[in-house]
Amino acid sequence: MSILDHHKKIETHATLLLVLSFLVVTIGGLVQIVPLFYLENTIEEVEGMRPYSPLELAGREIYVREGCYVCHSQMVRPMRDEVERYGHYSLAAESMYDHPFQWGSKRTGPDLARIGGRYSDAWHVAHLINPRDVVPESVMPPYAYLMDRPITGEYIQDLMSTYAMVGVPYTDEMIAAAPEDFTVQVDPFGDTGGLLERYHSAQVRNFDGQEELTEMDALIAYMQMIGTLVDFSTFQADESR
Ligand code: HEC
Repeated sequence: MSILDHHKKIETHATLLLVLSFLVVTIGGLVQIVPLFYLENTIEEVEGMRPYSPLELAGREIYVREGCYVCHSQMVRPMRDEVERYGHYSLAAESMYDHPFQWGSKRTGPDLARIGGRYSDAWHVAHLINPRDVVPESVMPPYAYLMDRPITGEYIQDLMSTYAMVGVPYTDEMIAAAPEDFTVQVDPFGDTGGLLERYHSAQVRNFDGQEELTEMDALIAYMQMIGTLVDFSTFQADESR
């Protein structure tokens, strides 16, 4: 009997075909999935990544609340046109502390994964107050009210504890110092030693130019640090993985 005859048996018996197909798919699935249970982490660790500072985290919450992700992605794909336009392609590690991640699926506006440092704070303020003042053809909605909404670190410890629960490495010390770190990040004359020790290269300044600490400060603090933590002049992908 040739091998084709054996195959004919399988192909002409629906139940046998079903049972054997199920077996094959099961084995294939197990081979793919089981090794993942034995890996502690599937994300390559990258130097420079750290959790968001309290103010950046609050800004990120505003970004999510306002639905910026509806029009903006935060993932530069490893394709030439994207890398030339936005900068180094995004690494998995760059969104490892994002819950939920902001990769997005729609680009009505440009990708924002490398927006940090691209524009001045004043540009962001003007753009968020009325996008058409700086980009006449823009269809982005205005967010001027963020200037009038004061924000305090009142709930930041709860927020950080919640992030800690889902695996972001906020320590007790970070959470204890959070209300102070929150306000000192907009005060260039404040004692920022602790903040910078806990959150390396956190940018300290009055982001929206107003005396009061507002949601605009938090959102711009977040905008200005997105995609800046990893130093791509020295970054080398681990080719062995
Ligand atoms: C309705 C879609 C839409 C929404 C919602 C939206 N944007 Fe935009 N955004 C755009 C478009 C279109 C542009 C390009 C024109 C411009 O610069 O205004 C843009 C540009 C930008 C830029 C400049 C990007 C660059 O590389 O030049 C930033 C920064 C930005 N948006 C931030 C935000 C933030 C923060 C929010 C949420 C508070 C937001 N956007 C919400 C559509 C949107």
